[in-house]
Amino acid sequence: MKIFLETYGCQMNVSDSELVTSILESKKHTITQNINEADVIIFNTCSVRQNAEDRAIGRINNEMSRKKQNSNIKIGVIGCMAQRLGEKLSKLNKHIDFVIGVDQYKKLPEIIEDLYEKDDACYEINVNEKEIYQEIYPNHQGKFNAFVTIMRGCNNFCSYCIVPYTRGRERSRPVEDILNEIKQVGEQGFADVALLGQNVNSYQYEEVNFAELLRRANEISSIKRLRFVTSHPKDLSDEVIAVMSESEKVCEHVHLAMQSGDDDILQTMNRGYTAEHYYDIVQKLRKAIPEIAITTDIIAGFPGETEEQFQKTYALMEKIEFDYAFTYKYSPRAGTKAAEFTNQVPEEVRLERLKKLITLQEKITLKKYQDQIGKIKEIYVERISKKSPDELAGKSRDFKIAVFKGKPELIGTFVKVKIIDAVGWTLRGELI
Ligand code: SAH
Ligand code: SF4
Ligand code: F3S
Repeated sequence: MKIFLETYGCQMNVSDSELVTSILESKKHTITQNINEADVIIFNTCSVRQNAEDRAIGRINNEMSRKKQNSNIKIGVIGCMAQRLGEKLSKLNKHIDFVIGVDQYKKLPEIIEDLYEKDDACYEINVNEKEIYQEIYPNHQGKFNAFVTIMRGCNNFCSYCIVPYTRGRERSRPVEDILNEIKQVGEQGFADVALLGQNVNSYQYEEVNFAELLRRANEISSIKRLRFVTSHPKDLSDEVIAVMSESEKVCEHVHLAMQSGDDDILQTMNRGYTAEHYYDIVQKLRKAIPEIAITTDIIAGFPGETEEQFQKTYALMEKIEFDYAFTYKYSPRAGTKAAEFTNQVPEEVRLERLKKLITLQEKITLKKYQDQIGKIKEIYVERISKKSPDELAGKSRDFKIAVFKGKPELIGTFVKVKIIDAVGWTLRGELI
């Protein structure tokens, strides 16, 4: 069967799509990039905010018209929204053929084959808290950057967040599996590897914790760069910071969601740290790794957030100066604690605060990028620049995009570039 797979949501979903690709291909199905030639269309969906679900449902409804032309086309939903809504999805669109949750992907090839033998839609959304897809290696897309999943699920239950409900309890993948996959992707030419999980710092497999995993991954000779996403401020230990600063391959970048700069809000969010603790970690990281880029996630308009509390977030963002911040308007998720709170912030206030955070961060990001002017950076060349054919583009160790004049033969290599300008979120440089 020819299958078209469309992915929404976070890196975990992108990674799961690579896993699903591998599972399907092992049973002789093929993935097509052309939706027009697909026998089966699969949407890998996200539930993190309502607009993520609305978008996915819009897309699914749209593609249903294909069934009018060819009644053999099957359309299915997988991922977090499939897990969250299950059979309720049939109420949103009664022509969906299958709905498969995040722990049931091994069954996909069989489910797809069976679709042609029966009329009813298929639902497989049982939670399997042990499923870690052991020994299945994802079919990594792209050429240079690979994400290697080290754990699935989340135990943190931040009060706003749906992820622990859609992805179940935290489970760590065996160390050897992870190290083998890193070796393998390195040999395939991916020199930049990111270890992936909702909360990588709480990785624990037998006696190996995250710091130790990072140490061992750093020894793998087939790769050149090592990263990890996402870190939780309550679990980012001194040991991890030490390993980061000692390990040659671990890049100078950390994504550390702050969410809010107010202690009461952080507590109601169930984040397990204070604004001061967060700021301390930032200081420690910058002391141990002076060139480190720090990126974050912030939520505007969490239930009960007063103007004063919002100002604390604003002020802390100003003080820290993140290299980049993903800012979101709070979106109530049914089933989470925060959705039940009666002091929801009006939509227009959430939006207004969000806009303020975006404007602030744009200014800071520009400044952080301008601070790079004059520096010599190592760039992993990925492609020809989208804007001009005689320029190349690639990423620095601290996860910034740089463009510079150069020959296409350099794609896939590491070069030294002197930064001469910063335009928006792109660095301009000269090869040296
Ligand atoms: N596990 C990651 C985050 C995964 S979700 C971590 O803890 O770092 C990515 C981001 O989406 C979160 O950090 C949060 O800022 C945002 N988010 C999650 N639920 C949300 C909601 N209900 N409304 C708005 N933003 C939300
Ligand atoms: Fe959601 Fe919190 Fe888990 Fe991140 S750590 S996935 S924000 S519950
Ligand atoms: Fe990721 Fe969205 Fe699921 S953010 S874990 S795909 S709810």
